[in-house]
Amino acid sequence: MKHLLKLGDLSREEILTILNLADQLKYERQNGIFRPYLKGKKLGMIFQKSSTRTRVSFETGIYELGGYGLFLSNHDLQIGRGEPVEDTARVLSRYLDGVMIRTFAQKEVEDFAKYGSIPVINGLTDYCHPCQVLADLMTIRERKGSFKGLKMCFVGDGNNMANSLMVGAIKTGMAFSIACPKGYEPDAELVKWAKENGEFMMTEDVETAAHAADVIYTDVWASMGQEGEKENREKAFKGYQVNAEVMKAANEGAMVLHCLPAHRGEEITADVFEAHADEIFDEAENRLHAQKAVMCKLMK
Ligand code: CP
Ligand code: NVA
Repeated sequence: MKHLLKLGDLSREEILTILNLADQLKYERQNGIFRPYLKGKKLGMIFQKSSTRTRVSFETGIYELGGYGLFLSNHDLQIGRGEPVEDTARVLSRYLDGVMIRTFAQKEVEDFAKYGSIPVINGLTDYCHPCQVLADLMTIRERKGSFKGLKMCFVGDGNNMANSLMVGAIKTGMAFSIACPKGYEPDAELVKWAKENGEFMMTEDVETAAHAADVIYTDVWASMGQEGEKENREKAFKGYQVNAEVMKAANEGAMVLHCLPAHRGEEITADVFEAHADEIFDEAENRLHAQKAVMCKLMK
């Protein structure tokens, strides 16, 4: 494993190895043990979109591992003025030991990895969000003990989250269902892959998808960069909401996860959100542990 560009690049074993290390790092941190696994290593963090969790968890994570994080906004970098990614990659590879990139096009992180010579971590693109899903898988295993026999259901936009979740769920042996409106399906190639490699179901009906689910997941109706589509999306996604009715269709004791930020009253009701706040904020915390594990695997 040289980079984390998308979850599909990782084998089931690689995913489980990261999750095991993440559990260990969480245990160590909870017991006040901070080992400098990445002493003196420098991580660049390029952000072309906003972030609360990704930025703070990566910066805190590299610091806790004995390294140093540089926050690099596209407003300040020459990238924002048109310097090509292939040049930026070759320059930053001379200074840094790893880079995390949050941007729009998946091609940009792929190109950075191609032209640079340091590990690249995808911190979200329009296509996928692998770091988030590693934290999600960690949270599910923590609460349910294992992935065996579980069903995950995603309600809403077939976006970056849905694309990564279906890969993560299927690779770890869970069944996956998605309820999304016509025209908002996940990536067609990933749908084909999911059908061929696991138990996968896609429907326009939320309760059908949620039936007997052990994990219900949702995300915003309009992602970063889609602000101009907000009104159309509000119409298209009306009814694609995780609420008490949907929870009735799921298995008893089903978890609710949300990558955050959440829009109460849109993709999730305030009641359901608050009833599952412990799970959702454990999930947010686990970003830190999962990403520390990823950095250790890639940058050590
Ligand atoms: N879930 C997530 O990636 O959050 P941020 O956008 O705050 O980083
Ligand atoms: N789908 C959301 C996820 C945010 C973490 C977005 O891309 O804005």
